[in-house]
Amino acid sequence: MKSIDLNIQDAVFFAEKQFEANKDRAVEAMSTLENGTGQGADFLGWLHLPSQTPKSLLESINKTAERLRENCEYVVCIGIGGSYLGAKAVISALSDNFSDFYAPAPKNPKILYAGQNISEEYTAELEKLLSGRKFGIIVISKSGTTTEPAIAFRIFKELLEKQAGKDKAKDLIVAITDEKKGALRTLASREGYETYVIPDNVGGRFSVLTPVGLLPIACAGFNILKLVGGAAEMEEATKHPGADNPCETYARLRNALYAAGKKIEILVNYNPKLHFLAEWWKQLYGESEGKDGKGIFPASVDLTTDLHSMGQWIQEGERTIFETVLSVKKPAISRRIPQDAENLDGINYLAGKNIDYVNKMAELGTKIAHVDGGVPVIKIELNALDEETLGQLIYFFEKACGISGYILGVNPFNQPGVEAYKKNMFALLEKPGFEKETQEIKAKINK
Ligand code: PA5
Repeated sequence: MKSIDLNIQDAVFFAEKQFEANKDRAVEAMSTLENGTGQGADFLGWLHLPSQTPKSLLESINKTAERLRENCEYVVCIGIGGSYLGAKAVISALSDNFSDFYAPAPKNPKILYAGQNISEEYTAELEKLLSGRKFGIIVISKSGTTTEPAIAFRIFKELLEKQAGKDKAKDLIVAITDEKKGALRTLASREGYETYVIPDNVGGRFSVLTPVGLLPIACAGFNILKLVGGAAEMEEATKHPGADNPCETYARLRNALYAAGKKIEILVNYNPKLHFLAEWWKQLYGESEGKDGKGIFPASVDLTTDLHSMGQWIQEGERTIFETVLSVKKPAISRRIPQDAENLDGINYLAGKNIDYVNKMAELGTKIAHVDGGVPVIKIELNALDEETLGQLIYFFEKACGISGYILGVNPFNQPGVEAYKKNMFALLEKPGFEKETQEIKAKINK
C-alpha cells in the first residue's frame, strides 16, 4: 500500500543521543497535532482533508478543468507561495521534461504561472506569448489581497477580455479564494466568475490538496482522485503515534540532528522532475519552522547536476548540514547506453546498462562519500512518479512538518515574518493607509 519508504540508517547514528532523548517529545508532538491541542490548532484543516474531501468536490473540479481544457491552449495559474508551489510541484513531477516545447495538444493545455514575481519582463513576455492565443486563468489568493497576483490578474484579465470578449472571458476565469473575505472574492462575485473556496482552516503552504492545487493539476490532465487517494492512504497509515509512524520518525530525527548542530537540511533529488517538489517543500518547512530565532534552514539541490557546483561545499564545507534524498525506484521509461565501436569517450564499460543504473550508482557513491564526510543522509524512496505516490509524499511531508514544528517548540501554522517586507513595500509605494509608515521609512532611507 505505502509507495514511499523512509530509511534513516545513514543518519540516525550522527545524533543517537538526541534521537533517544526526543522519543517522548515526538510522541507528544504527534498526539498534540492529532488531538488539535497545540498552537495554531485552528489551521489543522489539512490534517483530515484527504479522507474527508467529498467526491462531489473532486468531480466539480474535474468538470471545471474539462471546460478549461476544451477551450484553452494555455491556462495561466496566478498565485504566489502556497497558492502556486504545490500545483507546480505536482505538475512538474508528472509531466514530460520537455512538455513546454511541444505544441499544445488538444484537451491538454499548458499550465503557465504568473503573479509569483513582480518582474516587468516576465509579465510582458508572458503577455506577448498569450497574445492571439486561446487561454484561461485560474487566479488563486487565500487572502485575496496579495499584491503580486493582483497585478498579474489585472493584466491577464484585461488581455483575455480584449481577445475573447468580456462575456466569454467570464467562462474562462476561475477564482479560488476565501469564502467571504478579500478583494478577490468581491471581484469574483461582481464579475460572476466560477469560484472555489480555500478553507479557512488550511494555510497556503498546506493547501495543495484543496482546489488551490487540484484545479491546476486537473487542468494539466492528471488524476486528482488518485492524488487525494494516495494522501488518504498516508493519512490512514500515520494516524497513530509511535516509532512505526514515518512522519513522527522523520520529524524526530531532523530535530535530533538539529540539536546535534546540523542546522541546514538539503532536500536532494536525482531526477529533475522533482525540482519544484523541493521548492514546495522549502516553503512548507521554511515558513512553518523558521521563527522565534529557531529552525532548520531548508535548502535543495538537483543531483548529479549540482555535484558539479555545490558538491565541494557539501563534501567539505562547514559540517552543519544533513541531507534528505528523494530517490525514485525505477524510471517510467527505459533507455540503455549504446556500444560504440571506437569507444573514444571510454565509456563502453557502461554499454548495455540503463542510464538509471549509472544514476543509482552515482546516488550510492555520493551517499557513502557524504556520510564519510560527516553528512547524515536520510533516504525517502518513492515507488514511482505517479499521482498516488505524490499524494502520499505530500501528506507525509505535511504531517511530519506539523509534528516537527511542535517538537521544535514553535507554532508551525503561522507566518508573522512574511508581513515585514509587505509593510515596507506598501510604505515605499505610498499605499493609502500607510502614511505613517511612509514617513518613517523615508526618514530611515534619508538618514
Ligand atoms: O503559505 C502562505 O501562507 C503564503 O505563502 C501564501 O500562500 C502566499 O503569501 C500567498 O498568499 P495568498 O494566497 O493570500 O495570496
